[in-house]
Amino acid sequence: MENVALENRVFNPPAEITENANAKADIYELAQKDRIGFWDTQAKELVTWVEPYDKVLDDSKAPFYKWFVNGKLNLSYNCIDRHAKSDRRNKAAILYESEIGRQVCLTYGMLYREVNKFANALASLGVKKGDRVALYMPMIPEAAIAMLACTRIGAPHSLVFGGFSPESLRDRINDCQAKVLITSDGNFRRGKPFALKNNADKALEDAPSIEKCVVVKNAGNDVDFVEGRDVWYHELMAKAGSYYEPEVMDAEDMLFILYTSGTTGKPKGVVHTTGGYLVQTQATLKYVFDIKEDDVYWCTADIGWITGHSYVVYAPLALGATTFMYDGTIDYPAKDRLWDMAERYGVTKFYTAPTAIRTFMKWGTEFPKSHDLSAIKILGSVGEPINPEAWMWYREHIGGGQAPIMDTWWQTETGAFMCTPLPGITALKPGTATVPFPGIELDIVDENKNSADVGYLVVKSPWPSMLRTIYGDDDRYVETYWKRFGDFYFAGDGAKRDELGYIWVTGRVDDVLNVSGHRLGTAEVESALVECEEVAEAAVVGKKHDVKGEAVCAFVILKDGFEANSELIDKLRKHVGVKIGPIARPDDIIFTGGLPKTRSGKIMRRLLRDIAEGRAIGDVTTLADPGAMQEIASQYSGKED
Ligand code: WTA
Repeated sequence: MENVALENRVFNPPAEITENANAKADIYELAQKDRIGFWDTQAKELVTWVEPYDKVLDDSKAPFYKWFVNGKLNLSYNCIDRHAKSDRRNKAAILYESEIGRQVCLTYGMLYREVNKFANALASLGVKKGDRVALYMPMIPEAAIAMLACTRIGAPHSLVFGGFSPESLRDRINDCQAKVLITSDGNFRRGKPFALKNNADKALEDAPSIEKCVVVKNAGNDVDFVEGRDVWYHELMAKAGSYYEPEVMDAEDMLFILYTSGTTGKPKGVVHTTGGYLVQTQATLKYVFDIKEDDVYWCTADIGWITGHSYVVYAPLALGATTFMYDGTIDYPAKDRLWDMAERYGVTKFYTAPTAIRTFMKWGTEFPKSHDLSAIKILGSVGEPINPEAWMWYREHIGGGQAPIMDTWWQTETGAFMCTPLPGITALKPGTATVPFPGIELDIVDENKNSADVGYLVVKSPWPSMLRTIYGDDDRYVETYWKRFGDFYFAGDGAKRDELGYIWVTGRVDDVLNVSGHRLGTAEVESALVECEEVAEAAVVGKKHDVKGEAVCAFVILKDGFEANSELIDKLRKHVGVKIGPIARPDDIIFTGGLPKTRSGKIMRRLLRDIAEGRAIGDVTTLADPGAMQEIASQYSGKED
């Protein structure tokens, strides 16, 4: 074993998990034999339908697929009512801790009351089925309550990550014409309140569709109130009725919109619908994290991302599990904060991102060592490929050398896990998301759509929790995902297959960066840069980074008369932060006189990446101006990493 390269080591599933696993040994075979039948069984087992569906899949208008045709249901009913009316009514649904140590436990019974009241509160503001509601919230229980209340009414929500700028929030609100915004005064970041409401106010200066702004009092910081528009959450709740009849929704009614970066400057509003989403998110969590009645399950993702939607809120609650939420920084007051909480709450399943794991590795083993993490049985990873070293460290120091790691590959667009091991069945290798989930057909293909061992990752047939379109832009939906390989969904990732047939996702092959597991379009950062009066042109690439996975590196051509200096670098970095959000700030900004372009004018990002990562420059003969590369390379040399 010692001499085997990390990525070739094989770890068999622990017998004690296999024995009692939710997924039985024949699950792959069953799904293989009858894929549609497999999803039919899941849908019947996992969802409480108001009216049954007539058909599992309608593929007559591909790629506009429909799942569970004519089925009727309500998502909040499935997440709360059915548990609140059962023996689970006094079970913890949400456990929450704030950075300053405030604890909240909401049982299913309590969550039921809060969601019903808030649905009434929203209705009193005029929110009806089909209206869009924007959320700009910290990781507080009220965020989950608000999401569930929207689904109770049938009003699609659009969450915007709290780290996004006012401009990003404004653009997202305007794109979907949201009627109400729900936000909070602020939240704590390293012990100090961060004034979220101020950002919301700036966004609302130019968001005319918003009629009301609901504000949750959380950090207690001062806020400005706009008369007639703003209203306190607690005041609404004080007078809200205690029951709201769940709206009967069609399986294909829109559940939510979530904006994500694509290859152009304009983020895409990914649309998810109700039935298929509820089926696949539950099935995946149930089998992959092997959810049991006494679990304390903790997914560290922010609810502003798809992982937070699917695996902090909807899937765990639909399964009647206990989901833990933490709002705060991971090293406050000390670097053992997460392990301290994992011990105190007795966390049994823990799901986080490689960038966080690499940060913990850097800090050292003494922090997890100082806590008893023996309750942890299964670990998860998501957001980017996990490097084998981080995988081994995670297993050893967080998983007690035993917990299997579920490396889950999926996307905002897929809604739920697509490629992942099962903890009681799959032998693991560090660094691979292994095999498709039962009922999912993945492949790796070459340019000509032939199955290959290295190439592009595709999904060969529709899956229940797939996106249905891009909000307001069916053409962009078809163009982005279904053009390149026809009836195969193109994920935008590259992948390779090993001798076991396992899939190794190697990263994006389009112009999308993955910074600390967050998606960013190179075009978004470029358009922020060219807004500055000094900038004539910009090209952005990702550069390998030890902790973040990828860091943003920008090559900038200045307009005549402007001087390249460190003040300007600061200014440009700041501007990108203000425009998009702090995660988008470039680590490096390189001024150059020209950019490597093909004769047809396309920027050769591959060459820029070579420079940014310190590799020898490859073939430049196809460039319009081969000299440009030499100049950039000489600018770059001597730069500190
Ligand atoms: C990447 C997050 C390798 C991938 C759920 C994908 C991964 C993008 C993994 C989606 C993984 C996510 N291994 N790469 N386990 N999980 N990715 O939409 O490039 O924020 O296309 O969804 O993250 O990012 P998104």
